[in-house]
Amino acid sequence: MAIAFKQETFRDDFSYRNSPGNIRRFPFPFDRDEYMYSVNMEPHVHGRAGTVYESLIDVDEHYVAEMHDRALVLKEDPLRYQALPHMMSAQWDTLELLMEQQAAGYPDHFTLIRNGDQWRWINRPLGIDDSFTFGDASTLPYEPFEYITRQAQGDFCIVDQRDGNLWMDAGMVTTQADWSLDFDIGMNFMEWHGPVPLAHQIGVFDRALKFLLNLQQGKPTRRFNWTMTINPRLDTSPENYHKWGPDRTTVTPDNVGQKVHLRVELQSLWRLPRSNAILFVIRCYLMNMEELVTVPKWARRFPRVLKTLPPELIDYKGLTRFRETTIDWLSKYDDGAPTSPGI
Ligand code: HEM
Repeated sequence: MAIAFKQETFRDDFSYRNSPGNIRRFPFPFDRDEYMYSVNMEPHVHGRAGTVYESLIDVDEHYVAEMHDRALVLKEDPLRYQALPHMMSAQWDTLELLMEQQAAGYPDHFTLIRNGDQWRWINRPLGIDDSFTFGDASTLPYEPFEYITRQAQGDFCIVDQRDGNLWMDAGMVTTQADWSLDFDIGMNFMEWHGPVPLAHQIGVFDRALKFLLNLQQGKPTRRFNWTMTINPRLDTSPENYHKWGPDRTTVTPDNVGQKVHLRVELQSLWRLPRSNAILFVIRCYLMNMEELVTVPKWARRFPRVLKTLPPELIDYKGLTRFRETTIDWLSKYDDGAPTSPGI
């Protein structure tokens, strides 16, 4: 089905909004009334039509605007894209995966035509029609990983597997929740997860690493992460903290509904065929509180999650300045009824 792409912004006047249809497909990540870190991984398989799992690489109404925002970020700061020299084979793996998945999921919008190593890629929403030689980077306007991730929603890391660990050796990171590719490039799994509280102590990262080292090709896996963002801003990077950090002090009882956003990351992990690296896709979804309370079971559950969140997570996720105000605003939608697990 053809998607109606929106013209909107993630900066300045922040005109980003979800249509009612897009709210219904929002991946609300809580299956109970409280939240704690866990190894919350499940097979990344196709789900029902009309959900974000309908296609394994999800494209929605925000695609064109997000790609425009990415181009703006890269123009200001080219280091948001980096790939170490030994990652070229993984770059081509990623280009193939993203082209195949987008063309399979959205044939109205994307077409991939292959004749041996002569490939033609048509991206109608962005007005692109390029022919190139697979494996020959000189036939594309950018390196293959940069080329395709300028045309795919979400952030992307490619991690190399060696010495029983994973190494962040390439990334396209412009929509991140306060971490820096330029800082993390070349780090391993435990190093880049260093700042995360509590999870190390309860063994989450030991178990997750073991699981990922054995990830099989053709059997991608997925998990959710979440945080909250003031204004629908995609680029909440440490590099631009001076632009968005102060927004956290601007939340009042009158503007909570529009300013405070739940930010959900649907993360999928894919073993790549030639390089044996892993592609980590961080697909970000934003929804403001006015949109969230249009679904009564979410309106009931979310204030309960916020009330019971461990203090270490409140601090790490940067919620301290506006959590109470948000709980107060949301609480009028919580009638105290019990909720069902799993919804
Ligand atoms: C946070 C990358 C896989 C659990 C983070 C951060 C990065 C990251 C860069 C931010 C750390 C900071 O504060 O600077 C990655 C990459 C992965 C991966 C590249 C794939 C290879 C996983 C897996 C799990 C996990 C499999 C768990 C099962 C977490 C948790 C946080 C985190 C709990 C804290 C998030 C929050 O509270 O907002 N990850 N991660 N990660 N990661 Fe991962």
